[in-house]
Amino acid sequence: MDKSYQVIVIGAGAAGLMCGATAAAKGKKVLVLDHANKMAKKVLMSGGGRCNFTNLYVEPDNFLSHNPHFCKSALSRYTQWDFISLVEKHGIDYYEKTLGQLFCKTSSKEIRDLLQKECQHAGASIQLKCEVNTIEPIEPTEENPSRFKLTTNIGEVDCNSLVIATGGLSIPTMGATGFGYQVAQQFGHKIYPTRAGLTPLTFSGKQLEEFKSLAGNSIEAMVSCKDQSFKEAILFTHKGLSGPAILQISNYWLPGEPIHINLMPNVDIDSWLAKNRAGHPELSLKNCLAKVFSQAVASYFCQLLGINCKLKQLDHKQTAQVVELLANWTIYPSGLEGYRVAEVTLGGVDTSEISSKTFESKRQPGLFFIGEVLDVTGHLGGFNFQWAWASGHAAGSSL
Ligand code: FDA
Repeated sequence: MDKSYQVIVIGAGAAGLMCGATAAAKGKKVLVLDHANKMAKKVLMSGGGRCNFTNLYVEPDNFLSHNPHFCKSALSRYTQWDFISLVEKHGIDYYEKTLGQLFCKTSSKEIRDLLQKECQHAGASIQLKCEVNTIEPIEPTEENPSRFKLTTNIGEVDCNSLVIATGGLSIPTMGATGFGYQVAQQFGHKIYPTRAGLTPLTFSGKQLEEFKSLAGNSIEAMVSCKDQSFKEAILFTHKGLSGPAILQISNYWLPGEPIHINLMPNVDIDSWLAKNRAGHPELSLKNCLAKVFSQAVASYFCQLLGINCKLKQLDHKQTAQVVELLANWTIYPSGLEGYRVAEVTLGGVDTSEISSKTFESKRQPGLFFIGEVLDVTGHLGGFNFQWAWASGHAAGSSL
């Protein structure tokens, strides 16, 4: 590790490596450092080992932030198509799994390798197992244009531009820390309170016991909270509910609020029930529901309704109850599973004090924040990596 760099990026994850490669390709002397023993650990574990690296349908509406306009500039300047070209340049095979989500055919290692090769090719140095102890702003002089001095476990380094790309708090065992928020606070930035996002919902008491007995069963549903809805699968687990629709809604749910689930979002439930009753009057409600759900799930819903009769025996009130349950099953989770399993962190560095063009701090010249450490969080489906690529590229291009 040399002593002086034009650019130091703290965090060799998705955003930091993209930023380092982009700045080095412009001829800057760049060091990307990370306290972990491996770079891009979250890339490696992402997408079930196949990295959902972007989405075909990226829109600003796919991101949550207190400042919803902030993400627009970077996302429009480095798009999903730019990253797809890079993936193709590296000969990585990929496929669309569902809803525009692009995954590697073979392994997420290929995306990690892509980032490493881009850094190597551009001449950016990567230093792992490097802990930053202090960051000190220094007055630049003609002889030494550096604006920051860093003390680390392996020596002192200085740089002209310092990029914070240390990500959020999810999965501490993978190297996540609150370091980026501490640096932001050191330089007077406001932090929006952080919380775990894209995480399963937990339940307690009798409902938890019921869900446990259904663990492994899934349903295609429309899950809603406040004015947000997601039509994807929900999954019963030993802790409560998971599956893509539940992870998505966890970003919007707050303790005490209800979540509404349409269990048959693709059909007109009234007509479906009436048609079954007319065509199969002797069929039990349970066996009718078992045409759509597993036997176990059908039994559970009959138990919730307290109805165990043939379709022809359903009176008006019971028919309305069945329709209401199928169209609007209302649940009250007891909590979120939290950072141990969450895919992302909501909240973070307030973007009103960051340039949306360069990602430079408006408080401290030469200091930049990119990726998940910022108060920008994507939906499930490749949007969080697209944010890492876009913000990393925007900052790297401006350095
Ligand atoms: P990222 O977390 O990637 O990198 C931060 C880096 O900073 C890490 O290398 C860390 O070691 C380092 N660091 C932290 N503290 C430090 C310190 N004090 N000193 C030095 N270094 C430090 N998204 C998506 O779009 N598609 C997907 O398929 C998935 N799948 C997925 C699965 C799982 C299990 C998780 C946890 C997350 C995902 N995500 C995802 C989310 C995605 O991984 C995440 O949003 C990005 O990696 C964020 O990129 P960053 O570069 O901002 O942080």
